Amino acid sequence: MERTESTQDTTAFNMPDWMIQFADQKREFNKRPTKIGRRSLSRSISQSSTDSYSSAASYTDSSDDETSPRDKQQKNSKGSSDFCVKNIKQAEFGRREIEIAEQEMPALMALRKRAQGEKPLAGAKIVGCTHITAQTAVLIETLGALGAQCRWAACNIYSTLNEVAAALAENGVAVFSWKGESEDDFWWCIDRCVNVEGWQPNMILDDGGDLTHWIYKKYPNMFKKIKGIVEESVTGVHRLYQLSKAGKLCVPAMNVNDSVTKQKFDNLYCCRESILDGLKRTTDMMFGGKQVVVCGYGEVGKGCCAALKAMGSIVYVTEIDPICALQACMDGFRLVKLNEVIRQVDIVITCTGNKNVVTREHLDRMKNGCIVCNMGHSNTEIDVASLRTPELTWERVRSQVDHVIWPDGKRMVLLAEGRLLNLSCSTVPTFVLSITATTQALALIELYNAPEGRYKQDVYLLPKKMDEYVASLHLPTFDAHLTELSDEQAKYLGLNKNGPFKPNYYRY
Ligand SMILES: NC(=O)c1ccc[n+]([C@@H]2O[C@H](COP(=O)([O-])OP(=O)(O)OC[C@H]3O[C@@H](n4cnc5c(N)ncnc54)[C@H](O)[C@@H]3O)[C@@H](O)[C@H]2O)c1
Repeated sequence: MERTESTQDTTAFNMPDWMIQFADQKREFNKRPTKIGRRSLSRSISQSSTDSYSSAASYTDSSDDETSPRDKQQKNSKGSSDFCVKNIKQAEFGRREIEIAEQEMPALMALRKRAQGEKPLAGAKIVGCTHITAQTAVLIETLGALGAQCRWAACNIYSTLNEVAAALAENGVAVFSWKGESEDDFWWCIDRCVNVEGWQPNMILDDGGDLTHWIYKKYPNMFKKIKGIVEESVTGVHRLYQLSKAGKLCVPAMNVNDSVTKQKFDNLYCCRESILDGLKRTTDMMFGGKQVVVCGYGEVGKGCCAALKAMGSIVYVTEIDPICALQACMDGFRLVKLNEVIRQVDIVITCTGNKNVVTREHLDRMKNGCIVCNMGHSNTEIDVASLRTPELTWERVRSQVDHVIWPDGKRMVLLAEGRLLNLSCSTVPTFVLSITATTQALALIELYNAPEGRYKQDVYLLPKKMDEYVASLHLPTFDAHLTELSDEQAKYLGLNKNGPFKPNYYRY
């Protein structure tokens, strides 16, 4: 797959005036209190294109009526009925969820503050299709604060938090989404966002490419007014590159998925936190002294290994790439072949993005009680299908936990049937989603305000300077004090004092 880096000279990129300049930020960092309120909630995760993440909590009353939201007449307190949610009366619960999320999304809140005077999205008509959760609600309301009009649908039929959708509708957002939509509902909701009298979108924010696909299929003329597409997921980005290759992409698109801040946080730091959470919630296990083998020492593998090592586990790594293998050695892990340790380990974790990494032969040789799980994108890494044979007994012992029992009584503990452990069984921290959401907001602002000709009908990465800006907006949370280059130092390094600080090829 060919990836197009932004062709523009990033050093020439002018940060809009309303953005905080780095020097200002330094001052702000010192002022801002660091304390962040937290609340623990039991949440479950759903996903659409299986590669973007959001957390979901629900206060939804189980006695909720079964009438389809499409058949209900609902109005918000201002009399508007331009929305379709499960139950508008749940808005107050949703508002609380949004307020909790706001506390861990400092960059979006900073953007709102900055935008009080200026509205960089004034006149923007954004149609969005993402998970509808508290975190995306913070994004949607931030876009509104920046001047945009938004219409929104869900990118996944299960992941909508009904309360949050209600809170958005109550706040005047035209949101069409509820948990448990049918396939038909799903497309109906997208259509209601797009097909509106007297309103045409001029920006698209997509997660998975379904909205973009729908507009291409049903309303291709709309692209005459659309200034750009911002896409978050691997799948959606892949579709955009295909369109671009076929010469069919008719507007510029921003690939948010591959921005540095998103990759690092989603893959490395998020997995470093959520691997332990996922294992703990499903098995109540203790990590100290356990022998673990982690397959793949990329970003995800590095995060998993670091977390387990810190908990006192004995960690082995398997790799096919000598560079990553050497990194594992330098980080103090034993590099092995899976066969060499499969009989002795207590936990097997796959993070390769590959297929059949753990085969039936490996599974046959594992010791009693071995826990097997996957942190990679798809459920192909562990050959789970090979376990569906008559001689093996499956016992569902908890939600997302199966015991697979061999004829001699040996039990293997399989988590989430080999699907992504953290997305299936734990949460994604709001702070991680904050980084993605900020990147999306800045990508929209950049595409919307870009002068004619800066972006062609191609797929771009966010300019490096904006990636740096996303990171800098999150620094105040940690009371972090960034060093400023002196004029002399900037000259010596050949850098602009305000960045970008690294070339595009730099690997963080
Ligand atoms: N769980 C999550 O929250 C989460 C977050 C981001 C990405 N992912 C997914 O996790 C997977 C890994 O992501 P990444 O960023 O670490 O990718 P990566 O490419 O950085 O790392 C994967 C590593 O696996 C190695 N590998 C491939 N085949 C192997 C094999 N047969 N045995 C041993 N090692 C092998 C590769 O050499 C590579 O170093 C991807 O599928 C990605 O989509 C999951």
